[in-house]
Amino acid sequence: MLTDISDVLADPVDGSPLSLDSCGSRLGSASGRQYDIAGSGYATLTIDEVHADRADDDSMVTARETFLSRGHYAPFVEAVTGAVQLALDDAGVDDDAHPVICEIGAGTGYYLSHTLDDVEGARGVGIDLSVPAAERLTACHPRVGAVVADARHRLPLRDSSVDVVTVVFAPSNPEEFARVLKPGGQVVVLTAEAGHLTELREPLGILDVPEGQAHQVVEQSSDWFDPVGEPELVEFTMRLDQESIATQTGMSPSARHIPSDLLAERAARLPEHMTLTARATVTRLQVR
Ligand SMILES: C[S@@+](CC[C@H](N)C(=O)[O-])C[C@H]1O[C@@H](n2cnc3c(N)ncnc32)[C@H](O)[C@@H]1O
Repeated sequence: MLTDISDVLADPVDGSPLSLDSCGSRLGSASGRQYDIAGSGYATLTIDEVHADRADDDSMVTARETFLSRGHYAPFVEAVTGAVQLALDDAGVDDDAHPVICEIGAGTGYYLSHTLDDVEGARGVGIDLSVPAAERLTACHPRVGAVVADARHRLPLRDSSVDVVTVVFAPSNPEEFARVLKPGGQVVVLTAEAGHLTELREPLGILDVPEGQAHQVVEQSSDWFDPVGEPELVEFTMRLDQESIATQTGMSPSARHIPSDLLAERAARLPEHMTLTARATVTRLQVR
């Protein structure tokens, strides 16, 4: 809930601290701005209109919820949670210190809620540009507060307030991550690698993931972060039926770039079951 994390929230315009009003229906900043909290419990902390073009729409979020609930990406969620635990251990932070874990582009909260189950005293901030995602995030775990915000802009978080930032198949903003992390804090990034879902590329006409994604993550953040060890490759196969493949495609960027009827037509020509490769790397970065 937002009450659990209101001590880390800040005005997206000037960074001044936000606090909840007595009814819990608004957040107010020290500089006088007011931000409404939706009936379902998330706050919208954006500096201007939400640009929904990049945000997942309701059908993408529903597809993501369905696909992830079937456990197909369980090795990915285990790897992210394991990396968060290592990051907290490196910083010497115990569960009873109530660490703050912030996921950027958190979607349905599948990864964040799994991590909070593992780190018992932790509190979660789920940030996403998508309103349908924020609605899922408010309900995903009792210790998650959901915020609609744009990760490309100033994050609505106070300086040095977060223990670990996680980014799972979502946009990054290393300069802002360095500002909001506590000294010794880390970023955990999961990025798709070349070969991810490669069996679907040709039949569905979707783009392949370029080589060297983990290397790029390290390079783009090198002004503020040092890598912790080597990126960890997580690779496994999934046997999916046609319907699960359609659900996977519905939550991926292809859902945006290929007309849905054309994608459905191509998906209908796939075999009834396929074995697909899942391939991504977990990179940990420590703030300098
Ligand atoms: C591929 S999904 C990943 C969702 C989640 N991390 C997961 O793996 O289940 C990318 C998410 O990032 C969100 N997103 C895209 N651009 C964003 C931005 N500029 N700021 C915040 N969230 C953004 C989308 O709405 C979407 O929920």
